[in-house]
Amino acid sequence: MSTPHRIAPSILSADFARLGEEVKSVIAAGADWIHFDVMDNHYVPNLTFGPMVCSALKPHAKRADGTPVPIDVHLMVQPVDALAQAFADAGAHYISFHPDATPHAHRSVQAIKARGCMAGLAFNPSQPLDVLDWLIDDIDLILIMSVNPGFGGQSFIDSALRKIELARERIVASGRSIRLEVDGGIKADNIARVAAAGADTFVAGSAIFGQPDYKAVIDSMRKALGAGS
Ligand code: DX5
Ligand code: ZN
Repeated sequence: MSTPHRIAPSILSADFARLGEEVKSVIAAGADWIHFDVMDNHYVPNLTFGPMVCSALKPHAKRADGTPVPIDVHLMVQPVDALAQAFADAGAHYISFHPDATPHAHRSVQAIKARGCMAGLAFNPSQPLDVLDWLIDDIDLILIMSVNPGFGGQSFIDSALRKIELARERIVASGRSIRLEVDGGIKADNIARVAAAGADTFVAGSAIFGQPDYKAVIDSMRKALGAGS
């Protein structure tokens, strides 16, 4: 796909009793990526799913013509490295982690890339982007949290917009091709503001899975993003 924007539905808000069907439905509805929120009840106060679930969903993460749909793993776990490796083996395309959850973020990035995955760094609402001074040349994705991690259905924190702008400035200065993803509280009525701040990749959980017609929601998000989205 050559258009700039990616919509990544978070299956955190899907029906866990029917996850395979949910993945297929949301891909048929126009999802670009599948966002996979991994929570360990330690780094965040909630517990979700692990690499075995990722492996089980992998055969469902494809378009009608068989093209794979990237699985975008967001690790909210501490420590990072062993699970990152397990998710690489489970077929993840992108693996993002929170740099404050690992003692050696550079090593964690290298370990993800060595397994053939794209590496991302995730930033909580209260965290600065300083680590990018040293890691921006090594990563493929920056994930700005616009809610505190742990739960779906929270309200967008406006200060994330300033952080997205700062992250975009850093990406431009780096001259590299790095996805700028935003996660938390994204809906059709605020996605345009988030894109205007510089984001190109949009996670949405409750906004999509909380409605009966996933395609209608994704279409309305693309409409808000403008033609060619
Ligand atoms: C929160 C997760 C998000 C979550 C977003 O910790 O990282 O991906 O699913 O959910 P919504 O879109 O409902 O805010
Ligand atoms: Zn997430």
